[in-house]
Amino acid sequence: MTNPSLLILPGDGIGPEVMAEVRKIIDWFGARRGIAFEVSEDLVGGAAYDAHGTPLHDDTMARAQSVDAVLLGAVGGPKYDVLDFSVKPERGLLRLRKEMDLYANLRPAQCFDALADFSSLKKEVVAGLDIMIVRELTSGVYFGEPRGIFTEGNERVGINTQRYTESEIARVARSAFELARRRGNKVCSMEKANVMESGVLWREVVQRIGDEEYPDVELSHMYADAGAMQLTRWPKQFDVIVTDNLFGDLLSDLAAMLTGSLGMLPSASLGAPMANGRPKALYEPVHGSAPDIAGQGKANPIACILSFAMALRYSFDLGAEADRLEGAVQAVLADGVRTADLMQAEGGSPVSTTQMGDAILAKLDATL
Ligand code: NAD
Ligand code: IPM
Ligand code: MN
Repeated sequence: MTNPSLLILPGDGIGPEVMAEVRKIIDWFGARRGIAFEVSEDLVGGAAYDAHGTPLHDDTMARAQSVDAVLLGAVGGPKYDVLDFSVKPERGLLRLRKEMDLYANLRPAQCFDALADFSSLKKEVVAGLDIMIVRELTSGVYFGEPRGIFTEGNERVGINTQRYTESEIARVARSAFELARRRGNKVCSMEKANVMESGVLWREVVQRIGDEEYPDVELSHMYADAGAMQLTRWPKQFDVIVTDNLFGDLLSDLAAMLTGSLGMLPSASLGAPMANGRPKALYEPVHGSAPDIAGQGKANPIACILSFAMALRYSFDLGAEADRLEGAVQAVLADGVRTADLMQAEGGSPVSTTQMGDAILAKLDATL
């Protein structure tokens, strides 16, 4: 048996900083748990543009298609704002998602006990929170045609198109229902069926899949704007939320703040099973390249580390090892170890990115 393969794409800004901590954790699992990965590393985003003039080289795309899982840091940054749209760092990430057909983006928002006081919402609103947002990731307004900036008469018009086929809706709905069965058995679907035809179809298809294939799972529907309000009013009413590409992008950043910081939220982007039965997969933190703190050793590596925990669970069937890693993160937070994003502006002394990684490693050692 060959070792499971991982392609690491650190990317830009804080991407390489947080990924360096994940590398230490991957090495720990190799040395202390005998779980050796075949790890290779490559460029994506602005880093790839600087080297090759493209945010994703074709060779990197091919490697991503051939490994068991991809782990990505973050892409983008102000340096690249001036680039033509077609070669912006974000296009590299979007190409990976599209060509790997990673249609189900799992974005869990869990409030760790030690951080319940820290959220901008009241403790009782967020304590014990454990929700899963399933964001459709390969279609919708991110990819619909026509798109572009055109000239109409004497002015320009910017166009993007929201477009969903029934099969695109059905497959992401199934992902959400399957997850719900292993969790709280509830799915809430969010769209704007009151103003968008794509939303009407979305609601109809999700309802049909629910009725025909998952009658045991409780299904509800909400307009996405009301959903945003409910997520801040009483987020614990939700178990699994399934929604489109753009609403999912917004709602997951919102959900991040329920957990305390964007630096806490991991994600898994999953596609159809490969020949070995594992889903095509890319794991990445929900946050971006955080240009405001890049290069300062301030970034919280937990979102990226928890993304690797999701890889252990969803790509490698190592749920117990994922639990071990998540437990180590919880233990570190319970000890009061905090990066700057997890502290109020006025108080305490934050640890650096590296110190947070080391503290998690020490907790992992303590589990042996
Ligand atoms: P961002 O997520 O990079 O940052 C938003 C805020 O959260 C910043 O104040 C940042 O310092 C803070 N933050 C984010 N991650 C953190 C962490 N791990 N630890 C501590 N603080 C953290 O979003 P943005 O500023 O809107 O975007 C910056 C760039 O990143 C843009 O080019 C954007 O396109 C890109 N981006 C990339 C991804 C991705 O690669 N998946 C996701 C979002 C944004
Ligand atoms: C995310 C990001 C990306 C998105 C960008 C960087 C392409 O915001 O992963 O949430 O909009 O999907
Ligand atoms: Mn986003």
